[in-house]
Amino acid sequence: MENEAEKKWGFEVKQELNREREAEVAAFRYAIVSLMESVDKNDPRPVIPLGHGDPAAFPCFRTAAVAEDAIVDSVRSSMFNCYAPMFGLPLARRAVAEYLNRDLPYKLSADDIYITLGCMEAVEIILTVITRLGAANILLPRPGWPFYESFAKRNHIEVRHFDLLPERGWEVDLEAVEALADENTAAIVIINPCNPCGNVLTYQHLQKIAETARKLGILVIADEVYGHLAFGSTPYIPMGVFGSIVPVITLGSISKRWIVPGWRFGWLATNDPNGVLQKSGIVGSIKACLGVRSGPSTLIQVCEMFLLVNK
Ligand SMILES: Cc1ncc(COP(=O)(O)O)c(C=O)c1O
Repeated sequence: MENEAEKKWGFEVKQELNREREAEVAAFRYAIVSLMESVDKNDPRPVIPLGHGDPAAFPCFRTAAVAEDAIVDSVRSSMFNCYAPMFGLPLARRAVAEYLNRDLPYKLSADDIYITLGCMEAVEIILTVITRLGAANILLPRPGWPFYESFAKRNHIEVRHFDLLPERGWEVDLEAVEALADENTAAIVIINPCNPCGNVLTYQHLQKIAETARKLGILVIADEVYGHLAFGSTPYIPMGVFGSIVPVITLGSISKRWIVPGWRFGWLATNDPNGVLQKSGIVGSIKACLGVRSGPSTLIQVCEMFLLVNK
């Protein structure tokens, strides 16, 4: 038999490439995991995982009984053991459309909704679409939720940061946005309500963001995973309200509002009453990307339908 040390395998990781990959994710979850792994297990002091934003890990946060009942009912019905269609179950897509329509001045249809594995997969899908635009760059908030940057870097999308201004309640520095954008800028990402700042943007400021994006000819990606979790006196307004000024891709999920991040149910919605996303090929590209992934469980999609309808 061949000497084990000399044997060449076809699946050896190229260390240079692997290091690049590690560097990309270093800013995000990987860093937190390796930090936690390096904690001395024999040290009796308790560790508070400050990088961990999952309330479901604490017994005092429990989802609604209607959610739990819906899961049990869908399992017992035996009607949802099938594969789900590529863009999501029609009833789940309809439920998300109706849920979002409560706050919009126009109506989304089920066809404007794509069901994803949590909001995270919705981020992955839209950023993958951006990679198909050629040498595009995107504008990300600083501070922001680091997954956008990690995913963008891994997929060779150029990232440009604009500041959120603490002295103005963490509003977007719109002058900086205008200065950063060029002919290759494809999109701006807005996280509202904001992670990590916790603020909620006003109607007037969201409108200004929409007008700026229109002037620059760029898409707005509105991460509304914390939608309706608004503290303070500013009401939560979805960015889709301004869809007739600028096309808006809304990303959301049930993870935060229903305290079930492990259920992995989210959506991507195209708010585009003027049909710009269809004409520019973005809708076709979203559909193509969704064809190459597995998607959320059919059971969860049914349960989610009950949650949103009962809200
Ligand atoms: C701003 C933001 N977007 C998206 C997500 C991911 O959401 P989900 O758990 O539904 O994938 C998170 C999770 O913390 C987040 O903070």
